[in-house]
Amino acid sequence: MSASDIKEVIVLGASGGFGTLFSQVLAKSGVTVRGISRKGTPKPEATFSDYLSADPCNPNEEVITRVRSASVIVSCVPPGPCVRALEALAPYMAEGCLFLDVLSVKTEICNSYNSLKGKYPHVELLSCHPMFAPAAGWDGQNTVMIEITGGSKSKAFTALVETWGSTCVSMTSGEQHDRVTAAVQNATHSALIAFGLSLKKIGYDAEMAAKISTPPHRAMIGVIQRMASINEPDTYWDIQTENPHAEECWKAMEEAVQEIQSAVKSRDRDRFCQVIADFKTTLGADSKTCSSPY
Ligand SMILES: NC(=O)c1ccc[n+]([C@@H]2O[C@H](COP(=O)([O-])OP(=O)(O)OC[C@H]3O[C@@H](n4cnc5c(N)ncnc54)[C@H](OP(=O)(O)O)[C@@H]3O)[C@@H](O)[C@H]2O)c1
Repeated sequence: MSASDIKEVIVLGASGGFGTLFSQVLAKSGVTVRGISRKGTPKPEATFSDYLSADPCNPNEEVITRVRSASVIVSCVPPGPCVRALEALAPYMAEGCLFLDVLSVKTEICNSYNSLKGKYPHVELLSCHPMFAPAAGWDGQNTVMIEITGGSKSKAFTALVETWGSTCVSMTSGEQHDRVTAAVQNATHSALIAFGLSLKKIGYDAEMAAKISTPPHRAMIGVIQRMASINEPDTYWDIQTENPHAEECWKAMEEAVQEIQSAVKSRDRDRFCQVIADFKTTLGADSKTCSSPY
């Protein structure tokens, strides 16, 4: 089975950001894409073949008819409804139908899949994490794929995502994903949010700072401006509240701030310089993989 063998996809949470993005890319790939969402209408830019206003966790006959003929169901709803929708829809899914989510935190959802996979052996389960906001689009971005019950549909769907220009990276478990995203997302977001808040506290003169900005300052300001303009605080919130390593990340951040501050206060130049020199070891030999923004 190849990417072109995926003919009919249902998107749950069709009124939202990822639901809309899936409607656009799937339609462009020639797939029949059917939206299901509780809200009455999709976003104007959505390109669903048809759109049904219904609750996927409490399916009516129209939902069930669509589910029977679908080859893939993409869940873009929060974790609780995602599991409830799987349990409600699985009895009606065809043999080999693929169910996948796009959730940002994976330990819990993968645990749920692992406890349910024996109950629904006819369903393929895949946990997917697009490492970007829907406004950014797939092209040039990374996507994590965790196969729970691998099979031909999971492979075909992964191949389809790659046709949209995204690099798919396979991971073996939700735990592995959350361990890595604790650095890629939790630590990154918390440093940026704390940076933005500290600017406010010290009375930031944005106009004057822009006139004399340095490359690192412009890079940091650019990222927090983007965070504010995309305005999806729920995603940052979910990552901070649901990743099982979040607490550990905050503790490390507090310790790091105290350590650097204490080196500065005690005029311990060697210690201060060592912290920066150690970045080379932390980042590893392949540190150029993430190219500098300036
Ligand atoms: N946004 C990001 O930057 C980002 C990045 C990577 C991964 N993710 C993950 O992707 C998921 C979806 O993101 P998104 O940006 O598309 O979110 P979104 O725009 O808020 O859309 C979520 C959709 O879920 C549905 N929903 C909410 N509560 C529900 C419930 N109780 N029962 C059934 N449906 C419900 C809503 O549709 P109705 O109200 O119409 O039913 C809504 O359209 C997030 O949960 C996140 O974990 C997000």
